[in-house]
Amino acid sequence: MRVLITGGSGMVGRNLLEHTASNRFSIIAPSSQELNLYDFDATKKFLLKCSPDILIHSAGIVGGIQANIREPFKFLVGNLDIGRNLICAARDVGIKRLINLGSSCMYPRNCSDPLSEEMVLKGELEPTNEGYALAKIVSARLCDYISRENSEYQYKTLIPCNIYGRHDKFDPSQSHLIPAIIHKIQVAISNKKDSVDVWGDGLARREFMYSEDLADAIYSAIDRFETLPSIMNVGLGYDHTINEYYKEVAAIVGFEGQFVNDLSKPVGMARKLVCVKRLNKWGWEAKHSLSEGIEKTYKFYLEKHNK
Ligand SMILES: NC(=O)c1ccc[n+]([C@@H]2O[C@H](COP(=O)([O-])OP(=O)(O)OC[C@H]3O[C@@H](n4cnc5c(N)ncnc54)[C@H](OP(=O)(O)O)[C@@H]3O)[C@@H](O)[C@H]2O)c1
Repeated sequence: MRVLITGGSGMVGRNLLEHTASNRFSIIAPSSQELNLYDFDATKKFLLKCSPDILIHSAGIVGGIQANIREPFKFLVGNLDIGRNLICAARDVGIKRLINLGSSCMYPRNCSDPLSEEMVLKGELEPTNEGYALAKIVSARLCDYISRENSEYQYKTLIPCNIYGRHDKFDPSQSHLIPAIIHKIQVAISNKKDSVDVWGDGLARREFMYSEDLADAIYSAIDRFETLPSIMNVGLGYDHTINEYYKEVAAIVGFEGQFVNDLSKPVGMARKLVCVKRLNKWGWEAKHSLSEGIEKTYKFYLEKHNK
């Protein structure tokens, strides 16, 4: 089976390429230079030439809270253009099966209950990543409309919770929570500091899945594509406070200092836990515990920084 992966150089894409299941497929994973999704005509031409049996759309403009606050225009327009071009080009050239990656940012803010798939567009979005969320919602709806208008086209959306792991971004201006914590704590150790600051009170809760598990879920989705719901969360079903993530990383990295909560900094949503009822019914669950995932991520961080 020919599988085309967009975003093959990104964290999700690289974990797909490194996963053992990748050997079962003929995979094409062009870089953004080979396939620039901002260019609709070039995208169409590329898709026509490569003619995959299934397309996994994991390209996008992705960043942490700081980057999203700083550049909402880029996150909205970049992801809108990438999503629209890829999905519409796939439809135009007759690709029948597509898995689009959404994001839990698509859900309304501050819901205390787990976020079920029907809740998309049922409330106000979190302002700190609204641009990104709007673009992701448009792509998911595009997939839904295309499949509804013509049942030969099955364009489905997976909504992963937050992901961390190998090939993550550790640069503080780009990073998500877990790689940011790993980097911060490692820098504190290197500089012999006995305290690390935590944005906000650290009581906000977040759900983080190890990247290899997401890759595993995507290969299961390819294998069992016919039974895959048109939209489905991929999450753990449980979450931790930000303070707990700091403690877990500190235990693995070996940091024995203090954490100081900086209440002047933004924290985003109080909770963002996706509902995994549909996922469990479909028959998949993540395999890595938090400590296993953080250990592997820390090992990758050390290799990357030659430590
Ligand atoms: N990371 C998470 O926590 C998370 C959680 C939920 C959902 N997701 C979704 O998963 C997908 C992948 O995320 P990620 O974390 O792997 O992001 P990432 O590491 O930032 O990778 C993004 C990928 O998109 C590619 N890309 C960007 N602009 C492009 C363009 N104009 N044309 C073609 N390719 C382009 C990049 O290619 P270059 O490197 O060549 O620029 C890169 O391969 C995204 O849709 C994201 O919304 C991620």
